[in-house]
Amino acid sequence: MASGEHDFMPSTTLFARLLPEIELKNSAYGPLRGLEDAIGAVAEFQSAQHGCAVPPSYVTFVPSVSIALALSFNALVSAGEHVIIIGSPVYYSIYSPLSSASASISVIPFLSTGRVDVDRIAASITDKTKLIIVVNPHSPTGTVYIQEDLWQVGELCSKHRIVALSDEVYEYFVIDGVHVPLYSAHPYFRDNAIVISSYGKCYGVSGFVAAFVVAGSSLLHQIERYYGGPIFMTSRLSQYTALGCTTEPAWIPTLRERLRVARDRLAAGLATLPMLRFVKPNGGMFLWLEYLSPSEPLDLSALLLRKTQIETYSARMFIPENLLCTRLNFATELSILDECIGRITRRLT
Ligand SMILES: Cc1ncc(COP(=O)(O)O)c(C=O)c1O
Repeated sequence: MASGEHDFMPSTTLFARLLPEIELKNSAYGPLRGLEDAIGAVAEFQSAQHGCAVPPSYVTFVPSVSIALALSFNALVSAGEHVIIIGSPVYYSIYSPLSSASASISVIPFLSTGRVDVDRIAASITDKTKLIIVVNPHSPTGTVYIQEDLWQVGELCSKHRIVALSDEVYEYFVIDGVHVPLYSAHPYFRDNAIVISSYGKCYGVSGFVAAFVVAGSSLLHQIERYYGGPIFMTSRLSQYTALGCTTEPAWIPTLRERLRVARDRLAAGLATLPMLRFVKPNGGMFLWLEYLSPSEPLDLSALLLRKTQIETYSARMFIPENLLCTRLNFATELSILDECIGRITRRLT
């Protein structure tokens, strides 16, 4: 229950659609931003899912979300410049490339209501602030941003001419509420934000990736200039996978309902345990668990593995590191969740 993917069987029709594509089309390099039909399909799908126009010219395939994050950070932020990351703790794929680039980083936690602390963000902006980073839904807390908060962030970015970058790899894992993609949240974001997403996690095909960026051409050109040319060339398999996913919109409400049932089952099962605390997430596929008042310092993921043989994602992958916490993936069958609840209840109390 550690990895960042769900455990549900991927759609078999998706694979049936994928295979002829691979057999029929050649395996040479494709166009730099991606295959025209795949780009068109992603643009149309994103527009329909979120009720906003995404022109095909804004879509570019990328080799993976983590790679797109690292390449964008390198190109957009120089040593000594300042970056604001909203939400805490922060996944290492976001924090580590920025700290390697010697950027100065402010992490602004959510308010206890799950809302964005706009005042604190405003107070931390300096003339060196180059980038604001959003992860929506947030990983590992599952916080889902609301339009009003994104609008406020847009107002700040527009006032101070700051670029925004949004990791929306869990955009189709919203259980309560609606997903507002950053490009539709504020007019400023249209040409001053990079939104990175993927269908891999949602459709259960993470190994085939299907990741893409939605961004205006001036930002993409800025990234390309830094590297001396286009940098996001992506395998055709990944692009055909994305194309196949767009033909199966019915998968999304089905997944959402399974996530809701699974989240509620695990949350109800663990809610009565006095030594564990968590906030029921509105999105994502994880409970961020905290072990309360241990008699001695411990590592919760190591303790769970030792006592219950349940593997979770270590808090070492998040900044700041708090080893009393761990990330538990609930996107699995109910029988497995029941077994997990039983083991934790019997062996941790
Ligand atoms: C917030 C976040 N971004 C990015 C990724 C990784 O995406 P990819 O596998 O496409 O690099 C993960 C994976 O768990 C994640 O949680």
